[in-house]
Amino acid sequence: MIALPVLAANWKMNLGPADAAAFVAAYIERAPASRDRTVILFPPALSLGTARAAAASRADLHFGVQNVYWEDRGAFTGEISAPLARDAGAEFVLVGHSERRHLFHESDADTARKCQAVVRAGLTPILCVGETLDERESGATEDVVLRQLHAGFSELAPDAIARALVAYEPVWAIGTGRTASPADASRTHATLRVALRRLVPPPAPTAGAARDVPILYGGSVTPDNAAALLAAPEVGGLLVGGASLHPASWAAIVATASLGSGR
Ligand code: PGA
Repeated sequence: MIALPVLAANWKMNLGPADAAAFVAAYIERAPASRDRTVILFPPALSLGTARAAAASRADLHFGVQNVYWEDRGAFTGEISAPLARDAGAEFVLVGHSERRHLFHESDADTARKCQAVVRAGLTPILCVGETLDERESGATEDVVLRQLHAGFSELAPDAIARALVAYEPVWAIGTGRTASPADASRTHATLRVALRRLVPPPAPTAGAARDVPILYGGSVTPDNAAALLAAPEVGGLLVGGASLHPASWAAIVATASLGSGR
């Protein structure tokens, strides 16, 4: 069971093996272990081993990879598979991050195959969805995120979807300093929630006990706006890029989550 909120650090193509270990050591000094939230670090795959080793004393820290290929093994030079990520200690995999979609032309069908491969390996996918500025301005936000959600989860059984996570990351807010307002984030999260409830019918009669798929918000999250975003309805956590690259700002964001903001 995942404790909410989820605080996920996406380091992208930053922090090599030594820097990742140094980050984790510095972060651990600042942030006491806690069981009332879930902290997941997504280092570059090459840094996963040293980052995990540096966190050996901290079972509360979880790790993932930023991408996988959908085949399990074979002649795919340069790719890593979900089983390889699992063997290296990953528990979570980001699927369909907007940089994968837009810079590396990853399609909806690719995200479906990747989610399937991640679940097959026993790992947990975090499916990322989000609209571009053009799509937003033309009023297509809902259509885009729902299309991405349904496509990404199309190869998964309901019980696998029930164990997955979703991250809403408006493309125009990633790395730009423009954040969706908490109300904007909530609105889109509520749309995703309705769709998720249809994909994963709550088990009767204990519907209230069933875990809702957490929906994280991402896009220019900082220690200054984290509390307001976490307090917004349906925001189950944060996926953070730039502000997760410094132990102090990352620790500040994780600390925000323990202030009881909204939950
Ligand atoms: P950002 O990135 O926090 O730097 O905007 C978020 C992400 O891409 O996951």
